[in-house]
Amino acid sequence: MNAQTIKQRFGIIGNSATLNRAIEVAVQVAPTDLSVLITGESGVGKEVFPQIIHAFSSRKHGGYIAVNCGAIPEGTIDSELFGHEKGSFTGAYDSRKGYFEVANGGTIFLDEVAELPLSTQVRLLRVLETGEFLRVGSSKIIKTNVRVIAATNVEIPKAIHENKFREDLFYRLNTVPIAIPPLRDRQEDIHLIFRKFAVDFAERNRMPSISLTPEAKTMLDNYRWPGNIRQLKNITEQISVIETNRVIDDNTMRLYLPDYFQEKLPALYRDNVDQKTFNSERELLYKILFDMKTDVTDLKKLVLDIMQKGGVDAELHTNNAKIIKKLYQDEPAYIEEEVPKQQISINDHQVKHIEDTEEIIEESLSLEEKEKELILKALIRHSGKRKYAAEELGISERTLYRKIKEYDIN
Ligand SMILES: Nc1ncnc2c1ncn2[C@@H]1O[C@H](COP(=O)(O)OP(=O)(O)OP(=O)(O)O)[C@@H](O)[C@H]1O
Ligand SMILES: [Mg+2]
Repeated sequence: MNAQTIKQRFGIIGNSATLNRAIEVAVQVAPTDLSVLITGESGVGKEVFPQIIHAFSSRKHGGYIAVNCGAIPEGTIDSELFGHEKGSFTGAYDSRKGYFEVANGGTIFLDEVAELPLSTQVRLLRVLETGEFLRVGSSKIIKTNVRVIAATNVEIPKAIHENKFREDLFYRLNTVPIAIPPLRDRQEDIHLIFRKFAVDFAERNRMPSISLTPEAKTMLDNYRWPGNIRQLKNITEQISVIETNRVIDDNTMRLYLPDYFQEKLPALYRDNVDQKTFNSERELLYKILFDMKTDVTDLKKLVLDIMQKGGVDAELHTNNAKIIKKLYQDEPAYIEEEVPKQQISINDHQVKHIEDTEEIIEESLSLEEKEKELILKALIRHSGKRKYAAEELGISERTLYRKIKEYDIN
């Protein structure tokens, strides 16, 4: 039987590859007796999968019992699953068969399995491993032949970490895992499912079906759907009831998806226009990165030259005027705190092969001298006008002011 027929039979809408794959795995595993663990966020549509597995198994004529483990009080769950003997606890007026006994030869679906108390998890592990269990209040071993399928929207590894779920049980249940993807990861299915819910609702209530403008459809497709298909169903029905205009535009849709912009901001980039902005921003970033890389390469070269020559001479200064100028222009504050005079010499301790340390220190002082000299020259040339002197030196007025103070230039 192909996936399409199964979808029709079980009322599954959607054609995404991940959904088709999950259906395929369910059909493949159905004829075996292996345990299956179905995982996925709340509302993704887990509940239909155990039905598919049961329907395609050799147990299809046996019983199928779905147990919502989260809905049974902790005090009675063992008795519900495994039965009890008369008088085994207050109120046990009669003995009673549990689901594992009733479903002998069939399938049990343990929904919300992560909600089981740890003591029940021990009993479950035993029945999975040996096919044996005890009724509450009895020491008589009962044998059963039940296939177990479990489902959860809880991240089990996290529950194991928090000691809320037994690791051995997890591995036992998870023999064949089927993960149902969240709705936001099957974008192509969203509108299909919406249409199905809209048409169903209209037929049930004998009214025209709602439809969406292209903008409203884009919103629907880009929404995060934290409640998945269940939420999509609720919203479709709400709109169907409330809106008199049967063509829903983006403004109306926004009313039903109030957290749309917070939830799915990156969706803006999906729009063609915004994609353009995104691309040009990306180009800009690439350019900045490229420029930075060029600067770093220039700087490396400069440092190497300084180290090889043992200091800065006039030639070096002229050859590297551009990068030196850029350095001072770009980051005066940084230079002020982190790159002053000594650093060039102090940094040299990292380069151990330079032998004559004294000479380096002396030469590095000449950088200061050179700088002082240049500043003086520029000030004289511009009759002490700092603004023009700074411009010519290629540094900010603030840096020049600081250097004048530092070098005590009058
Ligand atoms: N592919 C689908 N096509 C149409 N309806 C779907 C589909 N998947 C799920 N539904 C519907 O969405 C609703 C939620 O599905 P279901 O109850 O299976 O969710 P769940 O995964 O068990 O969630 P939870 O973890 O909260 O129990 C149901 O009404 C179900 O019929
Ligand atoms: Mg469920």
